Amino acid sequence: GVSSPAPEKDLGPTYRPAAEKPTATVSKEVPFENVHILPQTPQLIALLTMIRDRNTERGDFIFYSNRIIRLLVEEGLNHLPVVAHSVTTPVGKDYAGVKFQGKICGVSIMRAGESMEQGLRDCCRSVRIGKILIQRNESTCQPHLFYEKLPTDIADRWVLLLDPMFATGGSAMMAIEVLKAKGVPEDRILFLNIIASPEGVGNFSKKFPKVRVVTSFIDQGLNEKNYIVPGLGDFGDRFYTL
Ligand code: URA
Repeated sequence: GVSSPAPEKDLGPTYRPAAEKPTATVSKEVPFENVHILPQTPQLIALLTMIRDRNTERGDFIFYSNRIIRLLVEEGLNHLPVVAHSVTTPVGKDYAGVKFQGKICGVSIMRAGESMEQGLRDCCRSVRIGKILIQRNESTCQPHLFYEKLPTDIADRWVLLLDPMFATGGSAMMAIEVLKAKGVPEDRILFLNIIASPEGVGNFSKKFPKVRVVTSFIDQGLNEKNYIVPGLGDFGDRFYTL
């Protein structure tokens, strides 16, 4: 269901007067504390505009998607705990800093989630990455787990779950159940996605209020085929084949 109208915002550098800034549609807001939406900056909106355009060809789709994925990973990493860590610089002075504490891994929901693996590898050297294959039964519409390959010590890790399109949330919710069955507590899971639907985010957050969701945009809704609208079409097709 398409609900409230899409919010519009002036976008552009702060030194420009509002009258000289274009307006653009920005993300909906949702009343769930576990959901973190990237700041709706001119950069992000320009990147999303590129990948939403039906006329954007595959090479550009991959390039601009990768930039958004990088932003999601960088924001996701800010949700991991750090401990105090002081170092001495080459000029002999101390700097009071921090370092990451705890082990992480990625888990991609195949096939589209695999597109986000490189962005995670670019930020986390030699990160372990597991995979889950979930497909919807065409007649019952229920998601079904076909395959999983996860690090054996996943219960001791923070998990970054990867899937670019968060539509009904059926696959993501099944993936969370798989992770919980392996001993991963909800509050050590971060679900990174590019575009979410209000329906998906709502169902998911009521069921798993402690799983953090990091998304770049909450869209208007779902159509009768459960595609996100306005969305960007089939992400896997556009990234891997079209
Ligand atoms: N998966 C996609 O690739 N696109 C959608 O709009 C919904 C699910």
